[in-house]
Amino acid sequence: MQQTLPRWFAHRGGGSLAPENTLAGIRLAARLGFRAVEFDVMLSVDGTPVLIHDETLDRTTNGGGHVCETPDDILFRLDAGGGEHIPRFAEAAALCRKYGLLANVEIKPAAGQEVQTATVVAQLTAALWQGAAVPPLLSSFSLEALEIARDLAPDIRRGVLFDSVPADWLAEMHRLRAFSLHCDAKLLSDEVLAEAQAASVPVLCYTVNAPEQAKMLLQRGVSALFTDRLDLFVSEAGVGQG
Ligand code: G3P
Ligand code: MG
Repeated sequence: MQQTLPRWFAHRGGGSLAPENTLAGIRLAARLGFRAVEFDVMLSVDGTPVLIHDETLDRTTNGGGHVCETPDDILFRLDAGGGEHIPRFAEAAALCRKYGLLANVEIKPAAGQEVQTATVVAQLTAALWQGAAVPPLLSSFSLEALEIARDLAPDIRRGVLFDSVPADWLAEMHRLRAFSLHCDAKLLSDEVLAEAQAASVPVLCYTVNAPEQAKMLLQRGVSALFTDRLDLFVSEAGVGQG
């Protein structure tokens, strides 16, 4: 199933123009004309899926400690930057649906929580986007999480995330019945790109913050890019790729 993908994904919501993984970031991406956002989803100790990148609260909030050890009543009182709270996954989903944004939901399990996290996020993704005009795209560095997503939400497209793409990547994609390959832009080889093109697998690269690098990647045939620098690519934000 090759569907049109937006060319640009606002990374961690609004990139560097807004606090990462916040509703303000998603709103900003939509306001600037971006058609897709990526955000990271992890579980609180109460099992609530929330938007946050790190396993700990220290870098992006005024709190501290591990997300997976923090109860909701503490988590949701924290400041995630600019007075924003840590969003519930359901809030982010509602916003993406409201703005017609393609949501790339990265399942980001705390170490050892792959099964719980993928189970909750996959099931909730299917429920939250039921009947949506713009279906979401799940992704994860955890192959175990993607396996669970494949089994619990088979109709939701999956992207396999790799830092460095392994030699058997295409076999893994087939096993996971994945739609797209997501990889570090700096580590994408011509060989992998040629294999992806031959297999009609869209390749999405993170994190691209330099116009020259973006131009090169798109010329090489990369389908879509994740960026923190929404300001630099705003004129192309609405562009799609067939
Ligand atoms: O999903 C693409 C990208 O977000 C993966 O890296 O560490 O920013 O979640 P990270
Ligand atoms: Mg991410």
